[in-house]
Amino acid sequence: MALDTEIRSLFPQLQHKVHGGKRLVYLDSGATTLKPISVIEAVSEHMSLGTANVHRGAHILSDEATSKFESVREKTQKFIGANDPSEIIFTHGTTDGINLLAQTLGRTQLGEGDEILLSQMEHHSNIVPWQMIALEKRATVRFTPVLEDGSLDMASYKKMLNPRVKIVSLTHLSNALGTINPLTECFALAKKVGATCIVDAAQSVSVLPIQVAKLGCDFLVFSGHKLFAPTGVGVLYGKKELLNQLPPYQGGGSMISTVTEEGSEYLQAPHRFEAGTPPIAEVIGLGAALDFVTSLGFDKIRDHETQLMKIAEEGLSKIEGIRRIGTAEQRSHVLSFLIGKNHPSDVGAILDEQGIAVRAGHHCCQPLMRRFGIPGTVRASFSVYTSESDIHDFLTGVKKAKELLT
Ligand code: ALA
Repeated sequence: MALDTEIRSLFPQLQHKVHGGKRLVYLDSGATTLKPISVIEAVSEHMSLGTANVHRGAHILSDEATSKFESVREKTQKFIGANDPSEIIFTHGTTDGINLLAQTLGRTQLGEGDEILLSQMEHHSNIVPWQMIALEKRATVRFTPVLEDGSLDMASYKKMLNPRVKIVSLTHLSNALGTINPLTECFALAKKVGATCIVDAAQSVSVLPIQVAKLGCDFLVFSGHKLFAPTGVGVLYGKKELLNQLPPYQGGGSMISTVTEEGSEYLQAPHRFEAGTPPIAEVIGLGAALDFVTSLGFDKIRDHETQLMKIAEEGLSKIEGIRRIGTAEQRSHVLSFLIGKNHPSDVGAILDEQGIAVRAGHHCCQPLMRRFGIPGTVRASFSVYTSESDIHDFLTGVKKAKELLT
């Protein structure tokens, strides 16, 4: 299937007109992907006919909902190459997953003088939770610098690793630059100093095939909504033996084996970390999204994205005054730029008037923007349904924004 033609019909939102009848050019997939019909129908069918709570089955509907819900855990396990379904925890998203790790792993592993090693290209969701726990534990959060082209400064990373580093948490694919980080190498080095390794896979999960063993990570987090699934659901992968050493994150129903007036005993993973009623419809939607991605295959997804990026980059390079931010050799689906000294929000607003949806601003990466000495960027981000026409309209829109602003 040629991705940019037939696939578009699977995404109803692409028919939606904006600003009084303009064709929607959706280039904000880095913020959230559009949803295919199969996901919408899976959620709708569950909510219309299958609504019931899970793991509480005194009736057929609960049994059916439980079995659907648990089948998504197995699907997710296979999708990322985990060893066991119990290594898959359903969270509410990437942010929730990292907060869970900061409050459980961080709380139990960090002490005074310990270090958490991140990078300057992390999203705030992979910075702030660590700063919060570091403050409490008198630990230090350190940032591996980013080079001018947007790649990780590996020489500095190697120097910053030392036995005080207890946790290394890195993005697989930068949401603001598109840089793909060499995590297998990073984690092999981090393991030599005994650090626990965490992957923020929020941006990579929809474009790169993820195999946790190949990455060499201990934990990995991602959100469903950047992978064609609904908002409100995410995944935390953790090695089984590590998960079962962690204390619970939240207390409540479904995560205990016994509760007495004196105290409680907790279940093993995954249920230990899934207190309360989980996002059932959203998990079922995630299952349909995983089927959708699997049916396409990552070779096709990558080829499509590479082809679009080439056209977009060539086009942008012909427009005078464009400054690209993020040109690392290994990168994907995210194109960040500035037009002269214009504020990214002004460019974003002009594009929006033409029906072109991009993100403009700091992209929740203020330390990265500070490193480049800029307030933010305009970011166009692509997905499987992005077409060549979208890119041509985008380039026309950028030229128009330049004319209007200069
Ligand atoms: N993290 C999302 C983005 O990069 C919201 O836009």
